[in-house]
Amino acid sequence: MTITVHTPAAGRHRRAGFVDLGHARDDFRADVLAGLARAEKQLSAKYFYDARGSKLFDRITELPEYYPTRTELGILRDHADDIAELAGPQTTVVEFGAGSSIKIRLLLDAVDAQTFVPIDISGEHLREAADGIAVDYPGTDVVAVCADFTRSIELPDDVPADNRLGFFPGSTIGNFTPAEAAKFLRQCAALLGPGSGLVIGVDLKKDVQVLHDAYNDAAGVTAAFNLNLLARINRELHGNFDLRAFRHKAFYNEAEGRIEMHIESLRDQTVHVAGAQVPFRKGETIHTEYSCKYTVAEFQALAAEAGYEPLAAWTDPDTLFSLHYLRAAA
Ligand code: AVJ
Repeated sequence: MTITVHTPAAGRHRRAGFVDLGHARDDFRADVLAGLARAEKQLSAKYFYDARGSKLFDRITELPEYYPTRTELGILRDHADDIAELAGPQTTVVEFGAGSSIKIRLLLDAVDAQTFVPIDISGEHLREAADGIAVDYPGTDVVAVCADFTRSIELPDDVPADNRLGFFPGSTIGNFTPAEAAKFLRQCAALLGPGSGLVIGVDLKKDVQVLHDAYNDAAGVTAAFNLNLLARINRELHGNFDLRAFRHKAFYNEAEGRIEMHIESLRDQTVHVAGAQVPFRKGETIHTEYSCKYTVAEFQALAAEAGYEPLAAWTDPDTLFSLHYLRAAA
């Protein structure tokens, strides 16, 4: 573990630290080869977010059909003060994934954050995000933690243990199956401590056409985002995927309550990846993402099962999206 504490010029902010928990970077090659060797081929959604994929995701959040981002921002704006009241004074805000800077700023503008702890596996992205907050919130200590937050981790000793408030927006929890989500929530409770708060964004079940359109936008940005996984394999792993011989496929699986994204092969073909041969039948798919949807009651039940008391759930007027305030058991 390395700790570097830099004192900023003219003492403009309180304290800024960077702690690296030394988690191994993802092994893209091994994961891709293993995923493509399975009977039901799959690639992990975490690999969407290379530089090009992150840009495409930013464009997704602006699409007319993709309601989650703007809807969650609206809920956050409307209820930031309610969150602050539930959180109380002198909190330590812990963000899982240094994500959208606008969302965390809405939260930090409202709550009394003594300390802010962003956790992210990408050191570069984390540093940028942490520095921006340190400069603009001079009354808040910033301790950036470079780690894989899906693992069971502990925060550095200099992070106050009391009154922690977790923040996990964006319905990223939807990438997990419900069982995985419950496990993740239990890990969050362990990391945040007894009686801590967790503010979490969760996409809601709704009209199937609305869900379908959000993942099948007319401009084709989601298709490009999905197929970028193959382009990334071509770039980084000497792949020879012909992107015209595959298509984006996203549908709502009503029985499971989730959007599934796949990449479908349009013909029988063999692709070369990192020296391996990968055969595809026409119509065969690679599964790339789940985006699980919940009712408010379903998510509260899941949270309760994972050891939380659901204190509040806010939605937009069209009940497209929900923001939950959960409290970990004391
Ligand atoms: C970032 C996982 C919340 O599931 O809606 C957007 C990712 N995939 N369009 C989602 C995504 C296709 C997004 N999450």
